[in-house]
Amino acid sequence: MIPLTLAQIAQVTGGQLHGDPAAVVSGEVVIDSRRAGPRGLFAAVAGERADGHDFASAAVAAGAVAVLATRPVPVPSVLVADVPAALAALAAFVLDSLPALAIAGITGSSGKTTTKDLAAQLVESLGPTIAPAGSFNNEFGHPLTVLRADSSTRYLVLELSARGPGHIAYLCGIAPPRYGVVLNVGHAHAGEFGGLDQVARAKGELVEALPAEGVAILNADDPRVLAMAGRTAARVVTFGMAPRAPLSSPVPQPTIQAADVRLDELGRPSFTLLTPEGPAPVTLGLHGAHIVPDALAAAALARELGLGLAGIADGLSAAVPRSRWRMEVHRRGDGVTVINDAYNANPESVRAALTALRHLAQDGRAFAILGHMAELGAISQDRHEDVGEFAARADLAGLIAVGSEAEPLLAGARRVRSWTGEALAVPDGAAALDALANQLKPGDVVLVKASRAAHLEGVAEALARWDDPPAPPSRQHEEADR
Ligand SMILES: Nc1ncnc2c1ncn2[C@@H]1O[C@H](COP(=O)(O)OP(=O)(O)O)[C@@H](O)[C@H]1O
Ligand SMILES: [Mg+2]
Repeated sequence: MIPLTLAQIAQVTGGQLHGDPAAVVSGEVVIDSRRAGPRGLFAAVAGERADGHDFASAAVAAGAVAVLATRPVPVPSVLVADVPAALAALAAFVLDSLPALAIAGITGSSGKTTTKDLAAQLVESLGPTIAPAGSFNNEFGHPLTVLRADSSTRYLVLELSARGPGHIAYLCGIAPPRYGVVLNVGHAHAGEFGGLDQVARAKGELVEALPAEGVAILNADDPRVLAMAGRTAARVVTFGMAPRAPLSSPVPQPTIQAADVRLDELGRPSFTLLTPEGPAPVTLGLHGAHIVPDALAAAALARELGLGLAGIADGLSAAVPRSRWRMEVHRRGDGVTVINDAYNANPESVRAALTALRHLAQDGRAFAILGHMAELGAISQDRHEDVGEFAARADLAGLIAVGSEAEPLLAGARRVRSWTGEALAVPDGAAALDALANQLKPGDVVLVKASRAAHLEGVAEALARWDDPPAPPSRQHEEADR
């Protein structure tokens, strides 16, 4: 963070200072006391399992200069009424002192983190870039990411999430973007919004926040996203799949396109990137055809920031996954393949993963261990049934629904009369492992996916290691150290 005295922090946040006004914070602002470090600031938050205030002393012992808190703590502190609001005020203050920074925001129902990670890897080749780790995209993670910027930072690549109307507008208020990317409008959290049109309203707050000299980067293949062109003062740039056949009537083409998408045996896409500067070949190291629009969005953003065609194409081809549990493909020594896509799940991303699963399995056996898709509200039962039907149409050898909320998946699968695969309901991940792990044969492919709350990544990790003999103690020790 840019150096701020406790007096400044108290003033910016409207907080009450308990400590040395001249003490300077120049390290990282964190909400996890275990990550508190020298010269940093620890923001105490009351979470579901723990209250950060209980770790105030530990954070200061680890080097934090002070604690941002809502009640008195026995160490130097700035007492505020509301910690997220205080972080937001600090972030806005820091950005005011960094006017040369280019701020890009990425939103959408699926693929924000993937796109953010791809875009960051491209933009880093232009200059010092800050992008959040993982999904730091809410009222806590967003300001914490912004606060990492200092006078050396040139680019901020941010992920913006919404669980209701006004959320994205709020995040844009903290860090006003000049570049706004909208990927898609899908069912993630749709229950909380009330429907897809409401999701579109909320996601579009990003492009509404852009200034006239800004750029809105929109997915031309998603009509609800493309329609956001009418809600922004900014210049509009689009991305999408190149039309397969010559068009009979002249339709505006996306600015950035992918043509000739092919997948290798592990589902990694190759395509021709079509840009106003010409074509270039791209081969992604990430898995699934659904990643292609994310790559196009990242390309469009990097191009607007000044990266040339070769830099974009080579950068995309060199990009690696940075966030865990999204379409991690692990091929075991015995020929079984495990897809760990357990970070989260919504109807669109489960379909995308099932499509990738089918591709990887080729003519072999495909299995899916699926937990429920959270926060779908009144449409939850229907959407689970639809996804189950989709899974059966993908001709899975087995569909295992984990937890009672996931059971409608099986009802949907059974709607497909011609489906000969096995449908199984299990109470938890351990039972899913029991049911499947010892049945797997070389050539089989297993997808593991669910909403975050289900924590199925452990199931995927156990499956990925199933063929390994138990490691001797020394090796285990080495692995623990890495
Ligand atoms: N464009 C897309 N369409 C559908 N699913 C996608 C897309 N991009 C990524 N996904 C899938 O969505 C899930 C979440 O990906 P992630 O990048 O973490 O998105 P988010 O940050 O929006 O939650 C993963 O299963 C991923 O494979
Ligand atoms: Mg995310």
